[in-house]
Amino acid sequence: MKLKQTLSFDDVLLVPKSSDILSRKEVSLSTSLGGVELSLPVISSPMDTVTTGLMSKTMLESGGLGVLHRYNTHREQASMVLDLRDILEEVNSKHINKISAAVPAGGDLTKRAGMLYDAGVRIFCIDIAHGHHVLMERAIKTIRNKYGDNVTIIAGNVATPEGYSDLSEWGADAVRIGIGGGSICSTRTQTGHGIPTFQSVLDCRDIDGASIIADGGIKTSGDVVKAIAAGADMVMLGSMLAGTDESPGEVFNRGDGKKYKVYRGMASVEAQLDWRGEARSLEGISTTIPYKGSVKNILLTISQNLKSGLSYSGCRSIAEFQAKADFIKQTNAGMRESSTHILSR
Ligand code: XMP
Repeated sequence: MKLKQTLSFDDVLLVPKSSDILSRKEVSLSTSLGGVELSLPVISSPMDTVTTGLMSKTMLESGGLGVLHRYNTHREQASMVLDLRDILEEVNSKHINKISAAVPAGGDLTKRAGMLYDAGVRIFCIDIAHGHHVLMERAIKTIRNKYGDNVTIIAGNVATPEGYSDLSEWGADAVRIGIGGGSICSTRTQTGHGIPTFQSVLDCRDIDGASIIADGGIKTSGDVVKAIAAGADMVMLGSMLAGTDESPGEVFNRGDGKKYKVYRGMASVEAQLDWRGEARSLEGISTTIPYKGSVKNILLTISQNLKSGLSYSGCRSIAEFQAKADFIKQTNAGMRESSTHILSR
């Protein structure tokens, strides 16, 4: 058996190129999620410690998208949508067609999708751990047959070109790419399966298909830049956006004078006990992360650093960046040099 070599975000760097960009204002971060225009290529994960109404609203107002999580009853989720609609109408109704919510591939899919659609959801995210699955094909076709082109369908997760092609052919407008790379994922340790997210994106980039969402393991704005250069139309973020004012959950103190919030995988014991009353097939962990203040500051930093990233490659748009960007592989010594390292001297 010939084993394929794969690359992770930390294995690569982008090659700086000649640039005539005088200001980050010249750089556009516009992207398309299956035809839905976003001015910031960032989506918040459908997790119960990341995205409810406030995060969705803030993501929309920042130019990105928030996917309301599905770990509640369909009534609770629909009422989350109605609340979000209310605060958006107050503020900016141009986002009204970008309300997005996650649904399962089986279970109460039809009923939940119906209530969510009636409440105003127009972007469905069919959200399962192993998306290259017959249940996913049925779910995509169920949603498409019922709502036609009135809705945009995000599907996933998959990690291979075959998975990406199949979901695209089944009717997905955007596909979440990445299995087992998330900061709270234990899929790879528990099941032995997965592919580094960066590699999966590279493997899918040249295939004609749905928009690509790089999902899982993106830990810095540098990784966001690399994911986009590799071929992702946008990134989905969990840990980078968790622990903020806009993520659900309380801020607490552990006695060390610092503030924290909980961030947990949806397949962790704690999350499963909360949403289905029992824990089986554990593929995630629950943890605490430092409280970070408003997510608006994080999104601003990502946006500025992404624009700087495009500028380092001499590019004014994401399409140009994807066409021109060159990666090099770095050694372990290179990786050490790439992070701040004065204290290790
Ligand atoms: P980051 O690295 O941004 O990853 O924190 C967020 C992504 O992780 C996925 N996710 C999980 N994967 N077990 C997993 O294997 C889990 O319990 C779990 N919960 C979330 C999901 O794709 C999310 O966007």
